[in-house]
Amino acid sequence: MYILNAPLEKVIELDHNIYLLKVHSPEITSNINPGQFLNIRVSDKLAPLLRRPFSVCDVEGEYIYLMFNILGEGTSILAHKPKGSTIDILGPLGNGFDLSGNFDTAVIVAGGLGAAPFPFVTRKLNGKKDILTFIGGRSKVDVITYNLKNIREATDDGSLGLKGNVVQLLEKNIELLKSKKTKFFACGPTMMLRALKEFCIKNNFDCAVSTECVMACGFGICQGCPIESTQQHEEYLLVCKDGPVFNIKDVEI
Ligand SMILES: Cc1cc2nc3c(=O)[nH]c(=O)nc-3n(C[C@H](O)[C@H](O)[C@H](O)COP(=O)(O)OP(=O)(O)OC[C@H]3O[C@@H](n4cnc5c(N)ncnc54)[C@H](O)[C@@H]3O)c2cc1C
Ligand code: FES
Repeated sequence: MYILNAPLEKVIELDHNIYLLKVHSPEITSNINPGQFLNIRVSDKLAPLLRRPFSVCDVEGEYIYLMFNILGEGTSILAHKPKGSTIDILGPLGNGFDLSGNFDTAVIVAGGLGAAPFPFVTRKLNGKKDILTFIGGRSKVDVITYNLKNIREATDDGSLGLKGNVVQLLEKNIELLKSKKTKFFACGPTMMLRALKEFCIKNNFDCAVSTECVMACGFGICQGCPIESTQQHEEYLLVCKDGPVFNIKDVEI
């Protein structure tokens, strides 16, 4: 785990309030796995002790990409950082996605900004496993497909792909999914993840899910990020230390 000030290469505005931060950090890029996150101090003025967590979106050579939308003050400051400034990073943190294992098709399932960790997952799996990507959003502007492969979409308003949610889209593709040896990788809003958990349990699909919560320290000290466990020996797990990636069956969503 490093604490460092990494030079900001640029901020890229993708579309509709979605930003990519490109940061130069060989220390982080040589030590990070898909699904891990960085805790960023966005400004000394804004609650200086509080950092903001972001999944690593992608890694290209010595550059890290983070993807975010402007939600509050922290993300607004990040989106407007000038080139040449530095980004105060604590990380890499948490447990990422386990991409090894006995599957031949990775099924990526994301809703909205839940797509953020999957360009890096896709990059790591490309050429090694088949990839099917299912993306949902309220409307077509909420469907983020940056650096993803083999995409099928669902939107609540029907403006792109299936009219419905991403789990309904999975239901439509159940024959295809059952014909493959799959492992699911998911991230998205709570309602989506609840429906996905039910779908995976019903159909006996193995699913790793990246969870989110409001965090403080980011590495297991403050106990501020509990998630209820479904395991008998543990009542709570910590999202930052035990996760953010869990087997979907092991946590209450
Ligand atoms: C492990 C992890 C990985 C994450 N990865 C990403 C990512 O890749 N891209 C991305 O855009 N966001 C990600 N987030 C969420 C991100 O940390 C928050 O959006 C960010 O901290 C908001 O900061 P802010 O100062 O702009 O908003 P604030 O002013 O702090 O909050 C604005 C609003 O957003 C809500 N909010 C703040 N944090 C969260 C959160 N964690 N979950 C849900 N609502 C929140 C607040 O309750 C408030 O309503 C991740 C969170 C975690 C825990
Ligand atoms: S954020 Fe402090 S223990 Fe998880």
